[in-house]
Amino acid sequence: TVTLNTAAKAAGKLYFGSATDNPELTDSAYLAILRDTAMFGQLTPGNSMKWDAIEPEQNVFDFTGGDQTVALAEATGKIIRGHNLVWHSQLPDWVMYGDWTPNTLTSVIETHVRTEVSHYRGKMYAWDVVNEPLNDDGTMRADVFYNILNSSYITLALQTAHAADPYAKLYINDYNLEYTGPKINAMVQLVEDLLAAGAPIHGVGFESHFILGDVSGTQLQTNMERITALGLEVAVTELDVRIQLPATDANLEQQKADYTTVVQACMAVPGCVGVTVWDYTDKYTWIPAAFPGQGEACPWDANLLPKPAYDGIAMGF
Ligand code: XIL
Repeated sequence: TVTLNTAAKAAGKLYFGSATDNPELTDSAYLAILRDTAMFGQLTPGNSMKWDAIEPEQNVFDFTGGDQTVALAEATGKIIRGHNLVWHSQLPDWVMYGDWTPNTLTSVIETHVRTEVSHYRGKMYAWDVVNEPLNDDGTMRADVFYNILNSSYITLALQTAHAADPYAKLYINDYNLEYTGPKINAMVQLVEDLLAAGAPIHGVGFESHFILGDVSGTQLQTNMERITALGLEVAVTELDVRIQLPATDANLEQQKADYTTVVQACMAVPGCVGVTVWDYTDKYTWIPAAFPGQGEACPWDANLLPKPAYDGIAMGF
C-alpha cells in the first residue's frame, strides 16, 4: 500500500505530517503508526509548545512536553513545525489579564519568543510565530497583543524569532484563508506590509479545518498562489474534514474526495511545501470537543484503521 510521506516526497513535496499531543504517546498502537516515517515525515505538537504550556508563569519555562515531541521526531527522522509563539488562545492568565503598557508587553513577548525559539534553535523546520491574527472580515483580531501594541506585535515577534534562530522558516498561520474573500485579502496585505517593512516572514500556513463538502480546490489554489507570488512558501498546516455525526458511508466518500481536493491544490502550487493533518486518527481529533455533534474528521478511524480519506490523500499526491 501507498505510504503518505513517501508519496508526498515522490511528488516533490517536503513532507506529509501529523499533529500529535503528549498524552497520546502512551498509546502504543497509536505511537507505532505515528513513528513510521514512510507515513509521517513531519510532526506538529498540538498543544505542548503553546504559551500556557511553555511559560505558565512569567519567566517560568517548562519545555517537558515540547522536548518529548522533538525527541520523538529526532529519533524517527521527522521534521518539526513549531506551534506556536504568539496567539490569542491558550494564553496563561498572567498574559491575558496583565496590566500591560506597550513597553512591558513588548518585553514579555521578547522574552517568551526568544527563550522558546532559542531552546529549540536548529531543531525546527518552521515556527508558527503568529497564530490567527485576523478576523474573518479581514480586520485584525483585537486580542491583548493588538490592543496594547497594534499590529507592531507581529513584526516584533518575527524579528525576535529570527534573531533567536535564523534558520527556522517563520510563518503566520490562520484559518479560513482557504476561501476567497476579505480574510485572504487582508493576509496578502499584511504580508506585503511586513515585506515592505523588511520583517522576516517566510510562509503562510493554511490551517484547513474544513466542513464536509465545503472544500473549493480552485479557491484554495488561488489563495496559495497569491501568497507564493509574494515570494513566500505556504503549507496546509492543520487539515481535517469534519462530519455531522453519525457519519454515513456517503459522507466518508465525500470526505475522501475533499481530502484529495486539498492535496491536489497543494500539488498544483510549487511553493506549497507539505500537508499536515490535525492528528491522523478520529481517536484523538479535537473536533467533537470544539464543534459538538461533529467529528470523524481524520483519515484513520478511532480503531486506527485507514478510512476512505486515506486513499483520498494518496490519490492527491
Ligand atoms: C487545538 C488542539 O488540537 C486542542 O487539543 C486544544 O484543546 C485547542 O487547540 N487552530 C490551531 C490549533 O492553531 O492550535 C488548535 O489546536 C486548533 C485550531
